[in-house]
Amino acid sequence: MTTTHVAGRYAGKAAVITGAGSGIGQATALRLAAEGAHVLGLDINAEGLATTAARADAGIETRQCDIADPAQCRAAIEDAVERFGRLDVLGNVAGIARADHLQDVTEAAYRQMMGVNVDGYFFMAQAAIPHLLHEGGAIVNIASNAGIIGQAYTVVYCMTKGAVIQLTRALAMEYLKTPLRVVAIAPGMVDTGLTRGYQMPADVDWDLVGRYISPRGATPPETIAALFAFLASGDAPNMHGAIVSADHGMTTG
Ligand SMILES: NC(=O)c1ccc[n+]([C@@H]2O[C@H](COP(=O)([O-])OP(=O)(O)OC[C@H]3O[C@@H](n4cnc5c(N)ncnc54)[C@H](O)[C@@H]3O)[C@@H](O)[C@H]2O)c1
Repeated sequence: MTTTHVAGRYAGKAAVITGAGSGIGQATALRLAAEGAHVLGLDINAEGLATTAARADAGIETRQCDIADPAQCRAAIEDAVERFGRLDVLGNVAGIARADHLQDVTEAAYRQMMGVNVDGYFFMAQAAIPHLLHEGGAIVNIASNAGIIGQAYTVVYCMTKGAVIQLTRALAMEYLKTPLRVVAIAPGMVDTGLTRGYQMPADVDWDLVGRYISPRGATPPETIAALFAFLASGDAPNMHGAIVSADHGMTTG
């Protein structure tokens, strides 16, 4: 899918994007680089990162990073500042999802999802904020419609995305008197590796699942990247603390 880039919008800016090896993170890294940014793409998956770098004309450097490990988050931010001499944008995009009956959620699966989807977002933001506290500095967190409405068979995922929304709002308040902006995008279904590999457990009640699947289908990741590029840029100076739904109306009523 093609979307219209705003040439030069990110000229001279530097961004760190997590989850840059696939899906929304990859599309966002490519979009910001195409608009002139220096991007450090992070992912646990080195192969995915190599694909992203190969698809970019220029502007994307990569680093393998497990965002569930706070020390790796801090090291990645320091690395970006050393490479680029500044940091303008943090994109907290990497995330994992899985569906289970509540009683089948293991402690290991619970901790893993909290580690990536909550700890990862928090520790990346904590490390990045000292470098983002200038005019134009922005964090965009990728939440989900699952953070807004309850969804059957994804209790832990819903909890983590609710936490991302509250992380966004709480940071927006704590930094209200600074130039930093913090926003979240709450997508509905997006056509990525995450949804293509999604396995529903046996014996689900499809009526309940149908309540959060849009009849309008999945969104291409490039559409979310286009929204991200707007929100993190100087075109959105008053977007602060906003949770922007991009879900074909699935959380509207
Ligand atoms: N696809 C959807 O329908 C959808 C809807 C709403 C929200 N989201 C959210 O969008 C974000 C991106 O998801 P996507 O759909 O592009 O999925 P994706 O699976 O295509 O991409 C996610 C990327 O995160 C990386 N990742 C996983 N664990 C990591 C870790 N510990 N450290 C670093 N990187 C790690 C993966 O390797 C992968 O490259 C996620 O936060 C997801 O929850 C997705």
